[in-house]
Amino acid sequence: MSIQDEEELASLKAVGRIVRMVLEAMKAEVRPGITTRKLDEIGAQVMQENGARSAPSMVYKFPGASCISLNDEAVHGIPSERELSEGDLVKLDVTVEKDGFMADAAITVPAGRVTAEAEKLMACAERAFQQAMLVARAGFRVFDIGRMVEREVRKSGFAVIRELGGHGIGRTIHEQPHIPNYPDPQARHILREGLVITVEPIISSGSGRVFTDKDGWTVRTGDHALSAHHEHTLVITSGAPILLTA
Ligand code: CO
Repeated sequence: MSIQDEEELASLKAVGRIVRMVLEAMKAEVRPGITTRKLDEIGAQVMQENGARSAPSMVYKFPGASCISLNDEAVHGIPSERELSEGDLVKLDVTVEKDGFMADAAITVPAGRVTAEAEKLMACAERAFQQAMLVARAGFRVFDIGRMVEREVRKSGFAVIRELGGHGIGRTIHEQPHIPNYPDPQARHILREGLVITVEPIISSGSGRVFTDKDGWTVRTGDHALSAHHEHTLVITSGAPILLTA
């Protein structure tokens, strides 16, 4: 969506704050031994306490409140009775609806101690996001975001998962435009003040190719390499973007 007035901005800020609270509550409980279902319940509780709902379950009938993806799972992992193990790389991806507005964010959290490569991958996803912030502003084109993300990821010897990317958001989860994490020449859309989008590097220590698991949801890396994800919902302005989920 594109924000028309202060009231819409206030509603989006409110839902963005709830997304952050949900992520923080889940992150605080990430440790070996906890099930991903328990983590999901902790997040769902925070949504409920704030009068908010899980957007993926509303819009796509996703079987959980939030997506929880481990290790080689890039996105859309289903909460289950699986327990976290020492060294797991946990991606928490939370999209919330309140009063007809939606916001989306993701973080990567280590369960206990992870490998040096996993640490490097997590840091890289965050750095790629920060690089994208330099061009996520009015007058730049969508592909400028992908250019910055992929450049940073390649510099670290990693790969972006090209099938996955950011998106317009606000009234539903996935709106136009799609925001590729590489400089797709077709992504020529010019960013305008007020546009609400997610920027979300989803990267891998392997080739970056992915497939959908037989559960119909979980997207995994084809070579079982690790994946990391860092995402915020933001509003485009003439200067630095407004991060709604920070
Ligand atoms: Co997203």
